[in-house]
Amino acid sequence: MAVRHFLSLLDLSAEELRHLIQRAMQMKAQQHQGNAHAPLRGKTLAMIFEKSSTRTRVSFEVGMQQLGGHALFLSPRDTQLGRGEPIEDSARVLSRMVDAVMIRTYEHEKVERFAAHSRVPVINGLTDLEHPCQLLADLQTWFELRGDIAGRTVVWVGDGNNMCHSYIHAAERLGFTLRITCPEGYDPDPLILASAGRSAAIVRDPMEAAEGAHLIVTDVWASMGQEQEQAARRRAFADYVVDEKLMARAAPDALFMHCLPAHREEEVSTGVLEGPQSVVWDEAENRLHAQKALLEFLLAGGETQPLSRQ
Ligand code: CP
Ligand code: NVA
Repeated sequence: MAVRHFLSLLDLSAEELRHLIQRAMQMKAQQHQGNAHAPLRGKTLAMIFEKSSTRTRVSFEVGMQQLGGHALFLSPRDTQLGRGEPIEDSARVLSRMVDAVMIRTYEHEKVERFAAHSRVPVINGLTDLEHPCQLLADLQTWFELRGDIAGRTVVWVGDGNNMCHSYIHAAERLGFTLRITCPEGYDPDPLILASAGRSAAIVRDPMEAAEGAHLIVTDVWASMGQEQEQAARRRAFADYVVDEKLMARAAPDALFMHCLPAHREEEVSTGVLEGPQSVVWDEAENRLHAQKALLEFLLAGGETQPLSRQ
């Protein structure tokens, strides 16, 4: 049987995605009640980080431990990956020793090359193009607070970056409307946007985009690897701050999400981030539960159907 990878949200069908979210909610309740469920006893996850991380690293490491397995942190600084060993060779070697590999890197293509040479499931822990694990947590947070997201309106504010791309995929899979409000020059990848058909569209004016929305989401203006663009981006994104005025345009019970880390008084006001509509701490916690459901699905067979790309 072909190995299942999770390089993109599109690697899960709509049915699998909904099932995984329900499973994550169940696992969260079990863990909060102190019930241990250890289907990954004796399994090892290798985690390769070419970029910094707090949430992704800790949630995968703790998640594996709670599931009865073990996680191995690998930095290019002290493995042969950093000294030029080809990604294909690293994939062949590592996948003979561990049961799954999570990678956070720059070029998305690197994760795809690794997966193409791996005998075991590979998980995208963020690339410049996509951040699908974060979407599992965001969707879980929405589902537990508001139910299904189909038919709702979500507004992405700011950069057309990796998170925005994964939101476009989520809109396509789960049938919600995504309005992307970003300054010219910072649009999402046109092919990814086009792939979502009518589910996602750019609305240049942030106030117009936020009108009646059910969920407002933003992210940093300069992602990892774009540190030298910080000043230029601060100028370009000045009109794309999520503040109280913008939230007031949304539905009265609209939620606010941010994958974190956040820059207060830059992309989001302190009032919104710390305010009653913000669910960023639940969202961060759900990285743990959603990824445990993903690990169970990929490594212990889960209960979902085989992939059928829609
Ligand atoms: N949201 C997220 O991926 O956080 P980290 O960079 O801390 O992993
Ligand atoms: N867009 C951000 C997300 C960080 C979790 C980045 O890539 O740095």
